[in-house]
Amino acid sequence: MSARHRDAPVRAGVGLRLPHLAEIVATRPAAGWFEVHPENFLANPHAGELLSELARSYPISVHSVGVSIGSVGGIDRVHVKRVRKLVDAVAPILVSGHLAWSTHEGEYLNDLLPLPYNDESLRLVVAQVDEVQQGLGRQYLVENPSSYLGTATSTMTEVEFLAELVRRTGCKLLCDVSNVYLSGHNLGYDPQGYLDAMPAEAIGELHLGGFLSEEDEANPGQQVLVDTHAQRIAEPAWDLYAYALRRFGSKPTLIEWDSDLPTVATLLAEAARADALAAASLEPERRRAVG
Ligand SMILES: [Fe+2]
Repeated sequence: MSARHRDAPVRAGVGLRLPHLAEIVATRPAAGWFEVHPENFLANPHAGELLSELARSYPISVHSVGVSIGSVGGIDRVHVKRVRKLVDAVAPILVSGHLAWSTHEGEYLNDLLPLPYNDESLRLVVAQVDEVQQGLGRQYLVENPSSYLGTATSTMTEVEFLAELVRRTGCKLLCDVSNVYLSGHNLGYDPQGYLDAMPAEAIGELHLGGFLSEEDEANPGQQVLVDTHAQRIAEPAWDLYAYALRRFGSKPTLIEWDSDLPTVATLLAEAARADALAAASLEPERRRAVG
């Protein structure tokens, strides 16, 4: 493993989805790093081989959508073992997943569903993050979800829940800046206040993804933001990213695009915009430090 793989890069990376895999292997574009969903590659041995090949040239981050750290029925240990095999094969810079549950009684659900934030769910998630970190043999990053509804049984805020999870498990956090903006809009809280309350020292990665504004069927005349990962990053999410950079410093940032995939060049252009914003946002701080 080269030093490049051990040190998380500050340049932005892009999501690597199967429809782009052959092109990326053939053309080796100038991407900072790639993030993959292990579930796509575990089901496709040829894709897994190509990913191992790419991992020799690019830093890789592994972002699981199938490790359900919030499931009442326990995590899927067989799945964690499969993810471990892929992690061992590609030596990723980061391994992460969502704060949500997506399995119920052994069935995988399509959506990442929200958790109530209370002592009982915290105990459950702490035990399961411990188990995931042991199973993977490394630190895990937990991502804040996109939210549409609060839950009546929550007794703490999402940030309080995440901060306590970090304290009890030693995990890190993946801050999805677009999710903070979207959830703030949908649930009526201040996104900058959410970032201010996050434990800055625990932030190991940032995500930026596209979302859509739709008429809220439950509240006619109002708009709900829907986390689609199917379009360019919206201007207010870029503004909040600049705020996150000032709060957390430069962190590996991913352009997350999962459906209606654009060209690789479009993904790289979004990553270049993130890099330019990071340079502009952090320059005054750097000057102050030098001067
Ligand atoms: Fe995300």
